[in-house]
Amino acid sequence: MAKTKSVFVCQNCGSESPKWVGKCYSCNEWNTLVEETKITGKAAKNSRPGSVLSERTKPIPVSQVSVEDLPRLDTGNNELNRVLGGGLVPGAMVLIGGEPGIGKSTLVLQTALNLPNVKVLYVSGEESPQQIKLRADRVAKTADDNCHVVSEVSVEHILNHIENTNPDVLVIDSVQTLETERIESAPGSVSQIRECTATILRVCKEKNLPVFLIGHITKEGSLAGPKVLEHMVDVVLQFEGDRHHMYRILRSIKNRFGSTNEIGIYEMLGSGLREVSNPSELLLATQQKQMSGVAISAALEGLRPFLIEVQALASTAAYGNPQRSVTGFDLRRLNMLLAVLEKRAGFKLAAKDVFLNIAGGLKVNDPAIDLAVITAVLSSNMDMAVSPDVCMCGEVGLSGEIRPVTRLEQRISEAAKLGFKSIIIPAYTKGVELGKFDIQIVKANKIEEAFKFLFA
Ligand code: TYD
Ligand code: MG
Repeated sequence: MAKTKSVFVCQNCGSESPKWVGKCYSCNEWNTLVEETKITGKAAKNSRPGSVLSERTKPIPVSQVSVEDLPRLDTGNNELNRVLGGGLVPGAMVLIGGEPGIGKSTLVLQTALNLPNVKVLYVSGEESPQQIKLRADRVAKTADDNCHVVSEVSVEHILNHIENTNPDVLVIDSVQTLETERIESAPGSVSQIRECTATILRVCKEKNLPVFLIGHITKEGSLAGPKVLEHMVDVVLQFEGDRHHMYRILRSIKNRFGSTNEIGIYEMLGSGLREVSNPSELLLATQQKQMSGVAISAALEGLRPFLIEVQALASTAAYGNPQRSVTGFDLRRLNMLLAVLEKRAGFKLAAKDVFLNIAGGLKVNDPAIDLAVITAVLSSNMDMAVSPDVCMCGEVGLSGEIRPVTRLEQRISEAAKLGFKSIIIPAYTKGVELGKFDIQIVKANKIEEAFKFLFA
């Protein structure tokens, strides 16, 4: 017989405590413990996700494993295919996380409608079939009879629907709305999420059914529900971007079937998400000739090089404390770069407000855009424009040295492809063949050398 027991579970890390405490012993977060009911005894053993693997497995040498065992389903969406590592693997559970309103439901519905001759079961716990239909009309031109929608939150009912519909792809929007009868705690709590995901995972592995699972993220930016969810699924994708900007980035955080270096870029239009196959052209489209405070950086996001516009404004500080404001860049890094600029280039930036903006609302983590940041600030400060034919890449060190960057060749060839006349690169270029590029390459050891080339 199933016995139930009450425990307190940290909603942040998933650790359990028999008593309520204000601060989780495990992750030290405050006020995250919530009472949940736990099944113990036989019933709990039977519901363990461990039974996912079939008993028929047998160890074989890795050299004898045939890769044909992984036929991938083309999702009809090149960006998504690439992020998944070349398509959807049968039986894979793909978790898509993102802030509310970023476009998770749109992305998945659009993909579901575009899958040719593939039967999709779209289970929504958040929207009615009518709402889904309205969205479907916006994103797809043709009516698709292969996509079945149902509004449902009970896992037991969903399993019935899977039996009856026998879909090729399952979509669950969202995991936080699911509930199972076996557990008494509220939908969205750690134990509900864990149990429901495990149940669906078991069915999807048995049937070799790929699942898109949509998940919400907490205000701190991690996927709601404990880490355990990320461990269970095969692929974790994060959909991010600024809601007020049009670009969205689909980033792979975990992928059992491919690399996590890939990203997909989309643009949110009135008619759904559009794949952006050449990000550089879009990010540079608004560029105007000869403006001060603008520098183009050859950046890298994942494995894809693209050119991105960095804009800076340095103006006289009205109050004693100068303002620093950034969009899409790390504020502390900007402060460091400003200090370098002050020391090396002798600019009194302490008396200046500095605003920095990365075009398109993208967040760039690539340290190679340092040089463009410094150049943009300097250009605005002196009110001297950088030639629009020049781009640059390089990490800037504390003593003003320009440090080497990864994948230099890719950056140079992207700049050459887009018609830039020259590129400033770090002086250390060991192992890079520079002769083959149809672009003037300027090597710089120190930021002073780069400035001499740019502003002389
Ligand atoms: P949605 O997919 O519901 O986001 P999520 O599931 O991540 O919460 O959609 C997010 C926003 O996208 C919504 O506010 C409206 C906008 N949108 C468009 O701009 N164009 C469209 O074609 C659609 C369907 C939505
Ligand atoms: Mg949604």
